[in-house]
Amino acid sequence: MSDALLTIEGLTKRFGGVTAVNGVDMVVPQGTVMGLMGPNGAGKTSLVNLVTGFYTPDEGSVLFEGDEMAGLAPHQISRRGITRTYQNVRLLSGFSVLEQVVAGMYASRKASSLSSLVMWPGERRERHECLERADALLARVGVTERRELAETLPYGTQRRVEIARALATDPRLVLLDE
Ligand SMILES: Nc1ncnc2c1ncn2[C@@H]1O[C@H](COP(=O)(O)OP(=O)(O)OP(=O)(O)O)[C@@H](O)[C@H]1O
Ligand SMILES: [Mg+2]
Repeated sequence: MSDALLTIEGLTKRFGGVTAVNGVDMVVPQGTVMGLMGPNGAGKTSLVNLVTGFYTPDEGSVLFEGDEMAGLAPHQISRRGITRTYQNVRLLSGFSVLEQVVAGMYASRKASSLSSLVMWPGERRERHECLERADALLARVGVTERRELAETLPYGTQRRVEIARALATDPRLVLLDE
């Protein structure tokens, strides 16, 4: 068994006449931080979109911990442990900083959405745990705000909130698009 977390082979994506990603081979070992650099339009965001299932590859394979991700939907890939942030911040409008991060947990099914509707006693406890975890994740990325609407915060802080939301899924791989 290799120590590769992610193995990309021959990954290709075309949009009409534009080949956004052209036969990319790449290995991301376990426990590493890797940067991907390239000029505007080089295909960095497209690569992130391919690995996270936002785009379906035309060719090639994306092996995550040995399993093929190409062709899976974003929520399936997210549940496997790959998460991301966006080049342009995408936070939920009308939600507080804390709620953004809790939403990340619900997205990954760390919390069950049915019980959250009926408010069983177990749900109240779960909700409390979610809030405590969200608070800890925000502290980890250096965000001091909690109840404020995320959209009212400076851009840099919003980016940090987005990272906390990504970490809320307990990911094995985090892709930060800029
Ligand atoms: N959904 C799409 N439809 C059509 N063309 C697309 C789409 N997504 C990306 N492209 C094209 O693919 C190429 C690569 O774009 P991409 O956004 O991946 O580059 P990038 O490296 O992220 O650039 P930047 O540094 O500006 O963020 C560009 O020519 C872009 O116009
Ligand atoms: Mg980009």
